[in-house]
This record gives sequence, structure tokens and C-alpha cells, in this order.
Amino acid sequence: MAEKHFKYVIVGGGVAAGYMAKEFAKLGVNPGELAIISKEGVAPYERPALSKAYLFPEGAARLPGFHVCVGSGGERLLPDWYKEKGIQLIVSTEIVKADLASKTLRSAAGETFKYDILIIATGSTVLRLTDFGVQGADAKNIFYLREVVDADQLVEAIKAQKNGKAVVVGGGYIGLELSAVLKMNNLDVTMVYPEPWCMPRLFTAEIAAFYEGYYASKGIKIVKGTVAVGFTSDANGEVKEVKLKDGRVLEADIVVVGVGGRPLTVLFKGQVEEEKGGIKTDGFFRTSVADVYAVGDVATFPLKLYGDTRRVEHVDHARKSAEQAAKAIKASEEGKRIEEYDYLPYFYSRSFDLSWQFYGDNVGDAVIFGDNNPASPKPKFGSYWVKDGKVVGAFLEGGTAEENKAVAKVARDQPQAKSLDHLSQVGLAFAL
Ligand code: FDA
Ligand code: NAD
Repeated sequence: MAEKHFKYVIVGGGVAAGYMAKEFAKLGVNPGELAIISKEGVAPYERPALSKAYLFPEGAARLPGFHVCVGSGGERLLPDWYKEKGIQLIVSTEIVKADLASKTLRSAAGETFKYDILIIATGSTVLRLTDFGVQGADAKNIFYLREVVDADQLVEAIKAQKNGKAVVVGGGYIGLELSAVLKMNNLDVTMVYPEPWCMPRLFTAEIAAFYEGYYASKGIKIVKGTVAVGFTSDANGEVKEVKLKDGRVLEADIVVVGVGGRPLTVLFKGQVEEEKGGIKTDGFFRTSVADVYAVGDVATFPLKLYGDTRRVEHVDHARKSAEQAAKAIKASEEGKRIEEYDYLPYFYSRSFDLSWQFYGDNVGDAVIFGDNNPASPKPKFGSYWVKDGKVVGAFLEGGTAEENKAVAKVARDQPQAKSLDHLSQVGLAFAL
């Protein structure tokens, strides 16, 4: 099979790849120089849509509606855009072998790709209950959600199981967003997670209490402090019950599992330095191997603001790290220097009529402010995190664009806090 050569190859065709192509095009890339190789069959799209509008019972989002870069208010890059720019979009092509020493990639179909510069943008994959040996976890109608093909299967199952029972395993991002859309689709939803409250990696007990109360008011049942240890299925192999560690058994026509992700670094194991589960980079997303960059979910990068290294599994960083890497590559070719990446962590989620944003670091002491009564007609509340007397993180539910901008500024500037009580009293006004 013929070998193809490109100056730049991005392996992975998700959020980071799309934003990187846009930035490369902006900075100037010649036709034929850049290729994106993606396992998925479609051009890069805004992945967050899959757990939200893609699953709505009415007016659902569908491709090509949410190709990048609509999620950040930018131009929507359809396959024709890549053609016009001379960027090769090589879809439905999984890279199964990477040899960084010879700058060679091999696809599952046996094609060979050579590059001068490689950008690793393979993102994450889901953790599966079968990985933990949960009995019966390979039954039909147990779903995971990462790619558009997964979402399509889930849409079919939701249609087939009208008014049926859904069990959602996991109380993180997927758990919370999927429980809401399944409920909107009229399924009878039960969430199960091991921790004492939902989204423990970000939420405090007080923040979580609001969401749990709100979800309960929508009719979602929550089972905490236990895990799924097995599934029973019927004669067709379709899931019927979820067995919990505490002995309870839940009926289920559909199960959605969101028990975390794992960065896809396996192709590069032993060839590149890793840290904190990801591929170690500097502030320009260069890895330990010359001419190899890593961006998005897979990169463990220096977080300048905290003098620390982090891996971030969120879309804002996928976009910004990709743009930074494209700028760094172009600058180094021109013998110029750019500023090091200086990222302010930004996470968000939306479900039902709710919408929260978080900026900064959730370390130190947290304090809550505002109206966090789930029964309020328009709840609006937030939290600040204070470390060494400074506000280092801020969370806001129900904020306006201007208010969110203000809390982002607080997290970036890290002003001194008089006291936790004072912050709680003044609330949002502190940021404004
Ligand atoms: P991404 O996963 O987008 O892309 C990786 C691509 O590489 C995929 O196309 C994959 O198929 C491909 N690939 C992997 N291995 C390959 C190989 N060997 N060969 C070829 N191709 C390969 N974040 C947020 O901030 N707010 C939100 O609301 C959401 N919502 C959300 C919903 C859902 C359902 C998911 C799964 C994730 C989110 N996220 C999110 C997280 C966010 O989407 C995520 O951080 C970014 O998509 C990461 O971008 P990357 O480009 O790094 O990976
Ligand atoms: P997560 O890390 O947010 O949550 C995992 C959750 O799984 C934990 O909170 C815990 O409740 C639960 N869990 C762990 N082991 C379990 C077990 N054995 N049984 C039951 N529950 C168990 O991961 P996720 O929700 O699966 O999300 C996957 C990826 O998608 C992450 O990278 C996430 O950042 C991304 N994502 C982000 C958003 C967003 O930013 N709004 C939305 C969807 C997905």
C-alpha cells in the first residue's frame, strides 16, 4: 500500500483537531501540508452536544449543525472547508501503531503515514464496567457515551423504550447530564453512584445538595453510596436488572454508564514521557520527543497559574491547547517565540433549565452564597474557594454572561478575601 507523507499530521479528529486546523489555516498552511486522521467517520464536532441537545426529545441537534467551531461562536467547519484549505481529512481511519523514531503511523487497514511534525489529539475513551469485571455488563442496552455513533445507538434505544426504566451508573458529568435528558425523554430514571454526593471532584456537599434536590423535584431517584455489581438480562440478552452492592436490585430497560474516562495514550507508551496519566508537555505542548506535540485531554501540561502540572478533560482547554500548539509550531518555524500557555481552568455543564460555570481551582475552604433552594423559581447561587486568604476558585449557577465573566476574573486575579463570612454575605457582588 502506498505511503502518504504530510508535513503535519494530527492523530485524532475531535475538538482539539478541529480547532487546530482552524488555527493552522489562520496562520497559513499550504495545501497538502496538513492531515487529520480520525477513527470517527465525520469531521470534527463539538463533543459536548452529545450529552445535551443531541438527546433532546424535540428539536435535537444533529450534524452538520454542530461541527467545530460553533461551540465558541466561530465559523462552522464543514468537510468542504477542509477541502478548500487543502487540509486532508482522513476519516474512518484508526491508527493502530505509531513509531515515533521513524515518524511513521500505521492504520488498521494497513496504510502508512509519514509526518515531519505529529500532534497527538486522541482524547479520552470511556472506562467500561467490563474492565472492572462487573458480571453481566456486556448485556444489550447498556450504553456508554463518547462519540456520535454511541449517541445514535442511545437515541434508538430511547425511542424503543418509550416510558421505560433507565438506570444511570455514575454521578459525574455524564451521570448528571444523561439523567436529565433521559428524564426529558419521559423515562423513569434512577441514578446510582458510590460517593456521598454527586460530582465530588468539583462540587462541595452544599452545591451537590442543590442539584440532587432539583433532580429529585424532576422525579429522578438517586441511590448513593453503592455501586452496580452485576446485571441480569432476558432471553434476548437485553438488560433487565441492575444488582447493587448493598443488595438492592433495580429494574432497567436502559442503562447508561458514566464512570470516568481514560486518556488514549496507549499508542505512544514507552516512546514518550508521561505524567499524571497523560503525555507530558511544556507550555507550548511539545512532548519529550522532538517534533511531537500533544493537546486536549491527553496532555499533562504546566498550569502556570498554580505552578503545577495538570491534565484537563474539558472542551475549553481542548480548544485553547490546540490553538496554542499551532501557534507554537508556526512560531518555531519562523524563529519567533510566543508566550507560554497560561490557562485558567474553566468547566461548565447544562441540564434541564440549569447552567453552571466554574473557573479556577477548587482547593482550600469553600463558601456558598445566594439562593440555592432547588424549589425557587429562578435559583441563582455560587461558591468561592479560598486558599491562603485568596479567592482561587468560583462557581456560579444561573449567572448571566456578564456575571460569569466577573467570576472568571476573580479566579484569575485571586483577590484577598476578608473572611469566609464576608464572602458569603456579599456573594456575587464581590465579583461584580
Ligand atoms: P476528543 O475526544 O474530542 O477527540 C479525540 C478524537 O480522536 C476522536 O475523534 C477519536 O475517535 C479519535 N481517535 C482516538 N484514537 C484514535 C486513533 N488511534 N486513530 C485515529 N483517531 C483516534 N467538556 C466541557 O467542558 N463541557 C461539556 O459540556 C462537555 N460535554 C461532554 C460530553 C460528552 C458526551 C463527552 C464525551 C465529553 C464532554 N466534554 C465536555 C469533554 C470534552 O468534549 C473533551 O474534553 C474534548 O472533546 C477533548 O478534546 P480532544 O480533541 O482532546 O478529544
Ligand atoms: P466523571 O469523572 O465526571 O465521573 C465519574 C463518576 O463515576 C464518579 O463521580 C462516580 O460517581 C462514578 N463512579 C466511579 N466508579 C463507579 C462505579 N464502580 N460504579 C458507579 N459509579 C462509579 O466521568 P464521566 O461522567 O464518565 O465523564 C467522562 C468524561 O467526559 C470526562 O472526561 C468528563 O470530563 C467528560 N464530560 C464532561 C462534561 C462537561 O464538562 N460538562 C460532560 C460530559 C462528559
